[in-house]
Amino acid sequence: MNLRITISALSLGLLAAWGGLWAAPSAAEEPGGEELFKEHCATCHGPDGGGGIGLPLHLEDFLRIADREYLMETMRHGRPGRVMPGFEHILSKEERGRIADFIQGWREGPQAELPEVGEGDPARGADLFARHCADCHGPQGRGGTQPREAPGHITGEEQVVPPALNNSGFLAAASDRFIKATMLRGREGTPMTPFGEAEELSDQQMDDLVAFIRGWGEGVDPLAEPVIEVRSDMPMDELIPMLKMSINSHNFVFIRQQTLYEDLPPEGEEAESPVHILHFCSFGLLDKALEVDERVGTFLPCQITVYREGGQTVMSAINPKALSPLFHKPELELFCSLVSEQYLKIMQEASF
Ligand code: HEC
Ligand code: HEC
Repeated sequence: MNLRITISALSLGLLAAWGGLWAAPSAAEEPGGEELFKEHCATCHGPDGGGGIGLPLHLEDFLRIADREYLMETMRHGRPGRVMPGFEHILSKEERGRIADFIQGWREGPQAELPEVGEGDPARGADLFARHCADCHGPQGRGGTQPREAPGHITGEEQVVPPALNNSGFLAAASDRFIKATMLRGREGTPMTPFGEAEELSDQQMDDLVAFIRGWGEGVDPLAEPVIEVRSDMPMDELIPMLKMSINSHNFVFIRQQTLYEDLPPEGEEAESPVHILHFCSFGLLDKALEVDERVGTFLPCQITVYREGGQTVMSAINPKALSPLFHKPELELFCSLVSEQYLKIMQEASF
């Protein structure tokens, strides 16, 4: 099974279901949590929550600290830039609630009391992270490499990919106490060992780590801004081919690259670095959107602008999600937020 196909099938299925979305199903037909889990989660997390491309969810160490809100928020936001999709526009809040209840049903013991978190020093936390966590979670906390293809049903210690912690979806869902509790307990059956045992980390050190991890989330939500922007340390000529690959892998068609030089430099001075504009499109999505409102043609087909600034390469695109409320059409808002999420994922994946 190709992972890309699963994800795009999800989004396309969603579009196909537009009509159906607005018609309320009768109470008798409403699927239960187990059924919804099988339909939307089991391909990645395993039918029994044993894990696969997605993390195992039936671990007792996880279930004891993951409350309903954590599960609900994780489903809502997904993990942008990772393979875990956001379900905000796919499942209603009630449906997400039923799935959360179903997952919590796997817990055998009581819910654990989460530890208090005191004031921490993010600078000390950064050192500790580099020493104790970065080997698995990545130096920037961006997580282990995820498989591009699903090798069937994978479980077992070696294969659990360390999740991204520097991730807006994770940081939106996880409380400080949840993060500390994870360090204290670890997750038996995975490489995530407990750090509280044998006093590998003191209570203060764990608070420092929480402060450091939380610091990643202090930026604004990139999808709330009129322009979506992702910065990368990669040079432009390395980033652009990655960006094209990322565009294609999200089932958009790359159309052309346009290069602009702002101004010709005065004689004897170095030329300014060029601005590249990548044009791409998803004809299926575009047709659907145009059916809803012709005016979307003003910001589609899609463009990402790439330029250098402050020693970094910047990718930027108009955010359809921020524009969509202007059209006063709920169907369009749904479409636009899908496209915005795709833009963000395309840019984030290109810069990994
Ligand atoms: C040997 C590899 C390894 C090391 C070292 C490690 N982790 Fe983990 N961590 C993992 C794995 C794998 C998981 C996923 C466990 C699961 O399946 O639930 C994880 C899960 C987590 C989670 C939960 C994330 C989520 O999405 O629920 C947090 C928080 C976390 N680790 C923090 C840390 C911190 C902080 C450190 C350093 C003190 C650390 N980890 C060190 C491998 C590691
Ligand atoms: C396309 C694959 C995929 C699908 C479908 C998917 N997930 Fe995930 N999920 C993942 C991956 C991968 C991660 C880990 C993210 C990372 O590595 O940063 C994850 C993480 C999670 C976590 C965090 C676990 C932890 O230890 O904190 C929860 C909870 C979760 N998913 C629940 C769900 C639910 C519920 C559904 C269905 C509504 C679902 N997922 C559908 C791939 C998927």
